[in-house]
Amino acid sequence: MKRVALLGATGSIGRQAIEIVEAHPELELCAAASGSTPLDDVDAPLKQVGGDVTDLLERARPDVVLNAVVGFAGIHATLWALESGVDLALANKESLVAGGELALAAMARGGGRILPVDSEHSALYQCLESRRLEQVEHLVLTGSGGPFRGRTRDELDSVTPEEALAHPTWRMGPKITVDSATLANKGLELIEAHYLFDIPYDRIEIILQPTSIVHSLVRFRDGASLAHVGYPDMRVPISYALTYPERATTPVPPLDLTALTLQFEAPDVETFPMLTLAREAGERGGTYPCAFNAANEVAVTAFLEERLPFLGIADVVEDVLGRSDGAAAESVDELLEADRRARALAEEGLRVA
Ligand SMILES: NC(=O)c1ccc[n+]([C@@H]2O[C@H](COP(=O)([O-])OP(=O)(O)OC[C@H]3O[C@@H](n4cnc5c(N)ncnc54)[C@H](OP(=O)(O)O)[C@@H]3O)[C@@H](O)[C@H]2O)c1
Repeated sequence: MKRVALLGATGSIGRQAIEIVEAHPELELCAAASGSTPLDDVDAPLKQVGGDVTDLLERARPDVVLNAVVGFAGIHATLWALESGVDLALANKESLVAGGELALAAMARGGGRILPVDSEHSALYQCLESRRLEQVEHLVLTGSGGPFRGRTRDELDSVTPEEALAHPTWRMGPKITVDSATLANKGLELIEAHYLFDIPYDRIEIILQPTSIVHSLVRFRDGASLAHVGYPDMRVPISYALTYPERATTPVPPLDLTALTLQFEAPDVETFPMLTLAREAGERGGTYPCAFNAANEVAVTAFLEERLPFLGIADVVEDVLGRSDGAAAESVDELLEADRRARALAEEGLRVA
């Protein structure tokens, strides 16, 4: 029996995780948390709406924490799991992007382990498993390109939140759906992959595969590439992380290979500058990734509330990165302070935008 603590239980990942837990008698939900939505219909002995989740986790004594909170708010659960030596099934990429160094240090101290839930990183994890990194030439992260792939900047000038939320292949929460439309999501995933797999940025490529069938691939030094392929359905990586290393059954059908045509294309980084901004923030290190993430969260909220045009999201993030010192955070308090400062800069940027 594996005891699962589910944070972000009311969200897109959270709901699908509950489906997986209910389908497998060897999984048991020992705790559930949300930000503000009531958890009346969630069957768990310990539940919490809002507030600090670390007390809940201490009481729940889970075998695995599924962090499906959206945004930097997930940082405390990520650090708690890694420090406590508990498996961390990580959907909340923002915590690893913003707090990568601290998270890795907590993992080294606590002996915890990260099982990625992001479909691309789950794919890479599976392609890499038990292979040494020196055999790897490149990691290749795939992306659909979002709803605005192929558009020019002029065509993006007046797009609405409704249009940005119409993702072609995935049904997800609003924040990650907007991130997919700006390509910030691929930028966050680039930094996430750097920390997860301890690989330099110049060995991580991004390629678009519009139907989201190829979830990512690893190029090895002997010329072979291993890819993870399947229909876009988050129940597969959620199930993989929760039942690792058993690979339990899911309702997802096998790929009909005869019905497939796969196309790939390079991302248009001129039209979608968030990818380049993320790469620069990652390469500069320190708290630049934290500032990238914080500014993006503020800008996405403003876009969804129609206080900022779509193209303004990248402008706000670029401005915040230009005004941040990026000094490394030596403690959680310093990281929280870097996040707070970047948010304040972003709010300032919104006022002049
Ligand atoms: N959805 C996907 O297919 C997908 C794929 C890959 C990665 N991810 C990642 O998974 C995470 C969740 O995405 P999502 O699409 O499931 O988001 P979502 O549908 O917006 O759900 C977010 C969840 O986080 C909870 N939450 C928000 N603030 C919180 C706080 N301060 N404390 C505790 N819980 C809080 C929300 O609770 P309330 O309902 O109370 O607001 C909700 O349960 C994100 O990091 C995203 O990048 C998602």
